Amino acid sequence: MDSAVQIRFLPYGKTVRVPKGTNLLKAANLVGIYLNSVCGGAGACGKCVVIVRDGPFQTAVDLPDREQSGGGTKVLACQTEIEGDVVVEIPRSSVVEEGAEEKILGDSLDFGSAEPCPCLAGPETGDAFGPVLTQKFYLEMSEPTLADTTADLERFLKGLNEQLPDRDIRVDLGGLRSLANVLRQGAWKVTATVSRPNVMPRVLQVEPGDTRGRHFAIAVDIGTTTVVAELVDLNSCGTMGTQASHNFQIGYGEDVISRIVYACNSGGQQTLQESVVETVNRLVHALCTEAGVLGKEITAMVCAGNTTMTHLLLGLPPCNIRMEPYIPVVNQYPPVLARDIGVDINPNGIVFCLPGVSSYVGGDITSGVMYTGIAEAEDVTLFMDLGTNGEMVLGHRDWLTCCSASVGPAFEGGGIRWGMRATAGAIEKVSLN
Ligand code: FES
Repeated sequence: MDSAVQIRFLPYGKTVRVPKGTNLLKAANLVGIYLNSVCGGAGACGKCVVIVRDGPFQTAVDLPDREQSGGGTKVLACQTEIEGDVVVEIPRSSVVEEGAEEKILGDSLDFGSAEPCPCLAGPETGDAFGPVLTQKFYLEMSEPTLADTTADLERFLKGLNEQLPDRDIRVDLGGLRSLANVLRQGAWKVTATVSRPNVMPRVLQVEPGDTRGRHFAIAVDIGTTTVVAELVDLNSCGTMGTQASHNFQIGYGEDVISRIVYACNSGGQQTLQESVVETVNRLVHALCTEAGVLGKEITAMVCAGNTTMTHLLLGLPPCNIRMEPYIPVVNQYPPVLARDIGVDINPNGIVFCLPGVSSYVGGDITSGVMYTGIAEAEDVTLFMDLGTNGEMVLGHRDWLTCCSASVGPAFEGGGIRWGMRATAGAIEKVSLN
């Protein structure tokens, strides 16, 4: 790397080599040290303070108490560029607090009274897919002979059509290239994984033999601060595990507006897309390891997030969400393939993002409305989602109205000196006696 310099972060003992002139906030993110950055690196919040103990740097903002006893200079990481090898100390107060994930998992609500999911499809439900996004079909085909020279694809589709009549299911070129081998490997007995025809009428994979016993999906809640994922066994609808992590985008701003500013004004859209995908992939790997499942056995992922988070996951520019008249690129997201956005499930797996309503009412809210059933309720009901962004929906089966506002930073004192996120160390309860 030309003009590479080395940064050593204390007390973590982590070292990174970066090009000369690299921003210190970005360098810390590269080694997984997530500094508080409420303003997304605009130099306004003063939360990303670090101490340069040794080495050359340039900083755009002189802090009043910059000289430190014992040597070193206190700087804002987001306003500092590295000019040579440096040693940087990170005060504990400047790092994103660990522990939010544990709090969220520990405090998760138990909706134990809900009816079991009618997951099992088939003749009982009259729908080959039931409520799931992908379904597996076991096919036994007759072998080709001199008297039956039907091509592999036509033979395969004829077998599939017997179980999925009147559906125009496609096989893409990648699938076609491997079809001949898989059919013969399985001695003309194969399992086809197909996505719902009304979502994406497509054969996602063909495997030799009967693999219907292993069929998995992932549900992901992509929050501005925290990402939670659940691994689901699509044969039983049972949840096999839950994992949570803070959203790795947090090093680029705490709320959606800061993230949009970073994506659109600082050219950081790709960085934010990669950060959230990395977050999701860590959770996928942890869930797979815990449950003994391979990533390629997961053929569906459903994501719920606010409009900005969903845009960033898909790599869509979120810029107009922030500008009057506040227009997102899309509210009804088309399904995409896992390989197109880089999530580590089956590369041909389908990723479906729940639809939003507007720039500030996203798929996390529509999924909440669906789950709670307030759109069918007779009584007027208020649904509230108090996350980093907060939304409320009021209504019943005849009408629903909704609004949103920044909530987390408002309740938590975001941007003020002693504010902090609702995580380990925050005051949760006060009692007077
Ligand atoms: Fe550096 Fe806000 S001042 S992130």
